[in-house]
Amino acid sequence: MADIDYTGGNWGCAGRLKITDREKIPAGRYFDEDFFKLEAEHVWGHAWQMACRLEQIQNIGDWVDYEILGKSVIVIRTAEGVKAFHNHCRHRGVPLTDGPHGNCKTKGFICPFHGWRWNMNGESTFVYGKQMFSPELLEKDELALRPCRVETWGGCAFINFDDDATSYRNSIGPVLGRLEAHGMDNLRAEWWFGTVLPANWKIAMEAFMEGYHVMKTHPQLQHTVPMLYNTRYGMDTGGSGAPVNPELSAHENILAQFEHLKLLHSGMAGMVCAKELDIAGQLLDVVLPENPAEALPVWYHLVQEQITRRLRAKGEKVPDLNAVAVSDPVNAVEFLFPNYFLLPFFTGMSSYRIRPLGPESCLFEIWSLAPFAPGEEPAPPMRPTMLPYDSQDFPLIPRQDYSNIPLQQKGLHSKGFEFARLAKNVEGLISNYQRLIDAYIDGVPGEILARANNELGGNFDGKIVDLGLGGL
Ligand code: FES
Repeated sequence: MADIDYTGGNWGCAGRLKITDREKIPAGRYFDEDFFKLEAEHVWGHAWQMACRLEQIQNIGDWVDYEILGKSVIVIRTAEGVKAFHNHCRHRGVPLTDGPHGNCKTKGFICPFHGWRWNMNGESTFVYGKQMFSPELLEKDELALRPCRVETWGGCAFINFDDDATSYRNSIGPVLGRLEAHGMDNLRAEWWFGTVLPANWKIAMEAFMEGYHVMKTHPQLQHTVPMLYNTRYGMDTGGSGAPVNPELSAHENILAQFEHLKLLHSGMAGMVCAKELDIAGQLLDVVLPENPAEALPVWYHLVQEQITRRLRAKGEKVPDLNAVAVSDPVNAVEFLFPNYFLLPFFTGMSSYRIRPLGPESCLFEIWSLAPFAPGEEPAPPMRPTMLPYDSQDFPLIPRQDYSNIPLQQKGLHSKGFEFARLAKNVEGLISNYQRLIDAYIDGVPGEILARANNELGGNFDGKIVDLGLGGL
């Protein structure tokens, strides 16, 4: 990728925190107030953000209030499609919503201060005491709610505060097509949890950018199929892990795989769906090649074939799992910059969104997504079930992840800790993400940011790569 000539933005006091070595991430980037302000302006002011799930706004007039760093956007379903408006009254700025969601089809939006009104298309419908205002202040265009960029993809609405931002699809790139092939558009939310973590939003994101932490953070997963993780991380061999244990028979290897699937299902309260686990459990005694290395792919192929066939027979819109595994392979975690990522498995996915609340605090949300036959979709969760981050009510795997994140935030302040040091071939996504953030702060043009961002799709567990960002 050709380098650009890039001169850098106005970093002020935070200039010392700019990345100068791709394998080292300065600690202050996770708590420095000045750096946080730069991110707020240059990243959150210009990047696409997942604002809501579309099942939250199924009916005409349904709206959701999306909030980020003091800004608020109304995302609304209209007869013309999904629209978004900056959430302020055109008189003196009061927000127009009175909660996180609602329906405005009948009454529109009514400002609680002096009662001005708008319809769902953002058009002014009532101004009390019009005669008191200069006419030019009340012209139709002046009074219309200010639209915000919004696009829909993957069962979600995404907003952008930058009116000139490149489209969501161009910004994120080919990973969107791969996730679509896996049925992303047809999934529905089963549940939605939220918690506030005492950590910078990037610390929370980066906890999911590599699988290197599984051995210590999620030992139950590593214990069931140790070869899978040891081959990848513990033996310095590189390449994909082989889930086969040569000391076990083919049948014993299959049983270990099934235990792994069960742990993923119970540990995530989803991701591997219960109906898929049930199908896999019915296939434990099929006749397979005696060689475990041959038996395992045959078994997985059979499981995916049966999941596809049986769920389709129930009317669920699911992809041909074996076909998309070849045509559109996806990673264990797929990141959509800056703060949304997905954990696809067979037909289900877990979905994560992390929003900054301050330099050392973030709102961490998880949705469990699964396919459903028409008419069998669950009622959409309209707001997250909020729990303390150490609540035992969280599924095991997120609970284990949450246990590390606040500790890491604390350690970053320790005297003598100057930077995080990265494994360049496995923790590369952390470096790549952080350098893309620097490019946003530097004011790199949108099309170049998009090109760099496209490189991040599929970079889970990946290498530090050249993003075509000049010195970065
Ligand atoms: Fe909204 Fe006055 S501030 S009507």
